[in-house]
Amino acid sequence: MPVIHVLNGPNLNLLGTREPATYGTVTLAEIEAKLRAKAKAKGFDIAFQQSNSEGDLVSWIQEAGAKGEPVILNAGAYTHSSIAIHDAIRGSGAKVIEVHLSNVHARESFRHHSFISPVAQGVILGFGPLSYELALEALTSGASQKKS
Ligand code: DQA
Repeated sequence: MPVIHVLNGPNLNLLGTREPATYGTVTLAEIEAKLRAKAKAKGFDIAFQQSNSEGDLVSWIQEAGAKGEPVILNAGAYTHSSIAIHDAIRGSGAKVIEVHLSNVHARESFRHHSFISPVAQGVILGFGPLSYELALEALTSGASQKKS
């Protein structure tokens, strides 16, 4: 089965209890389970990972890019700070859809800039766990063409 990587950055392991007014009460494990089931029904396998370390995300993006496998990426706060993740996407040619649970543009100004958006194929944000499912839909429906 073709693989779609779902990579999650810092503090997303705390979903469920972390700032529920902003992020809701669904856990990352629940997001994974739902996504895995939806992907399987469409004939895709999910490689789901979370790390609080920037370097892990960089390595996983490089690996996905080398294999030509697409990535759904919620880089958490590294979205707003990480030139290393920007460079990993650019350098490996990984096809990335950037997702966020919250609408970062309706929040603090330091969340308005993304280092990922300029090298992402698309961005989906503000729909809670549904953001991940919409990204999966984009990748599996053919709406998302391979990045040149
Ligand atoms: C987030 C938004 C980021 O600004 C924040 O640092 C996160 C989560 C989101 O999914 O809404 O950790 O990426």
